[in-house]
Amino acid sequence: MKIRVFDNAHDAGVYVAALAEQVVERQAKPVLGLATGSTPIPFYQALIRLHQCGLDLSNVTTINLDEYIGLTPSHPQSYARFMWENLFSHVNIPETQIHLPNGVASDLEAECIRYDEIIRKNPIHLQVLGIGVNGHIGFNEPDDTLLSRTHIVNLCPETVASNARFFQHIDDVPKRAITMGVQAILQADQIVLMAFGREKAEIIAKAVFGEVRTDVPASILNLHKNVTVVLDKDSASELFDESGVLRRK
Ligand code: PGA
Repeated sequence: MKIRVFDNAHDAGVYVAALAEQVVERQAKPVLGLATGSTPIPFYQALIRLHQCGLDLSNVTTINLDEYIGLTPSHPQSYARFMWENLFSHVNIPETQIHLPNGVASDLEAECIRYDEIIRKNPIHLQVLGIGVNGHIGFNEPDDTLLSRTHIVNLCPETVASNARFFQHIDDVPKRAITMGVQAILQADQIVLMAFGREKAEIIAKAVFGEVRTDVPASILNLHKNVTVVLDKDSASELFDESGVLRRK
C-alpha cells in the first residue's frame, strides 16, 4: 500500500483527480468505480475543474459502489442524486455510461445480478473508496463474513447514525442498501482509499497496519497489489511513529 498524506482534503482531491486523469488518458474505454459521502467531494470538484480545463470524459464509464434501498434516484438523499449534483451534471460522461444500483427495483435479487453483470462487462480501472468509521468500504459492513458479490445489506447502527446528518431525522435514514461486494472492489486494477478528519484516524490505522479481518472490511485492501491510501494530516495522525515519521507499509 502506498500512503500519501496531504495538508488538506482539497490537495488530496487534486491528487486523486490526477490519478483519474491518467486512467482516462491511458485507457480507450476508461472505467471509474465511484463512491459517495463527504470524502470524495474534493476529488469530484477537482475532476470537474480538470474537465473545465479540457479533460474529455465522454469515453468514461462509471460504476458506483452502492445505493440505499427504497430511495428513488430523484430522492434528495439518494446516491444517484448525490452523484448528479456533485459530478455528473458538471461533466460530459454520457448518461448511458453511468451505473448505480437501483434501490427501488421490484426484484432486488435480480438487480444484484444485473449489477454484477455490468461490473463483469466493464472491469474497473480505478476504484475510489471512502471508509466508514466502522471500517466499511461501500456498504460492506463489519461481519463474520464479507460477501464477494453485489448484495443487499442491513446497515449497522453506527452507519445509520453517521449518515443521519444528511436526513431530517434518524428514522428517515434507510436501514438497507445494495452494495457492490468485495470481490468487485478487489478486481479493480487500482484502488484509492480516501479518508479525512480525526474521526477516521483510528480506523485508518487498523485498516492499514492491522491484520486482515472481516470486522475491519477495509483491511482486505491489504490483499490488493495497487492501493493508494490518500489522507489528510488528521486521518493520518495514528500512522506516525514516536519521532513523527510516517510508518511504512
Ligand atoms: P463519509 O462516508 O465520506 O461521508 O465519511 C464514508 C463512507 O461511509 O464510506
